[in-house]
Amino acid sequence: MLKLVKRLALAALLIAEAGTAALPVRILIAYHSQTGNTAKLAAAVREGAASVAGVEVLLRSVDEAATEDIVQSDGILLGTPVHWGNLSAESKRFLDRTGEVLGKTSKMLGEGRTAGVFCTAGSISNGQEMARLAAIAAFLDMRFMVIGGVNDEGFGSLGPQAVTGGSPPGVNDRDRAEARRFGERFARLTRQFRAGAKP
Ligand SMILES: Cc1cc2nc3c(=O)[nH]c(=O)nc-3n(C[C@H](O)[C@H](O)[C@H](O)COP(=O)(O)O)c2cc1C
Repeated sequence: MLKLVKRLALAALLIAEAGTAALPVRILIAYHSQTGNTAKLAAAVREGAASVAGVEVLLRSVDEAATEDIVQSDGILLGTPVHWGNLSAESKRFLDRTGEVLGKTSKMLGEGRTAGVFCTAGSISNGQEMARLAAIAAFLDMRFMVIGGVNDEGFGSLGPQAVTGGSPPGVNDRDRAEARRFGERFARLTRQFRAGAKP
């Protein structure tokens, strides 16, 4: 009898594992962009994330991101412009909606999911840290595991950022390269996290 119970338990475990392995890892990239800069950085993040096998990437503006996109995601990335030294109101609204949507499905909110952030700003040191830290704090409050980026020198970062008011203005190749690296790292670590493997 004990042997039979053990065999059934093992079979259930194998079926559960096979089911998880077959499902793609879902990453939602939600961004707010008024003048196109954050959208460009989001596209580069998407490129990096999509380069990881077994990962499905959904790129949506914060307004387009549907309730089921949030619920079905294994990882959520939020891209925001800096507005008056912080994340934009539209990006904050997306975070509020994420908490509300996940709160309806489970008391554990974002437990078992990953999150990350990136931003663009007009000038140097004028709110990038505040914007990213505010979003990170919200994700941590919701029990997400936060993943940062890696800068050019190999140090960890709060997530990629671009200063768009320089000359020439906009997002440059270096910003895009960092954003692609971040997308790849985020997707790879999210896949490992979901599979239960050590990073
Ligand atoms: C309402 C508003 C407030 C802004 N506040 C800041 C700010 O505090 N610091 C900064 O560096 N840039 C600020 N900017 C500039 C934007 O962050 C910058 O142009 C950004 O790249 C815009 O991103 P988007 O093209 O995706 O909308 C502000 C822009 C707007 C429209």
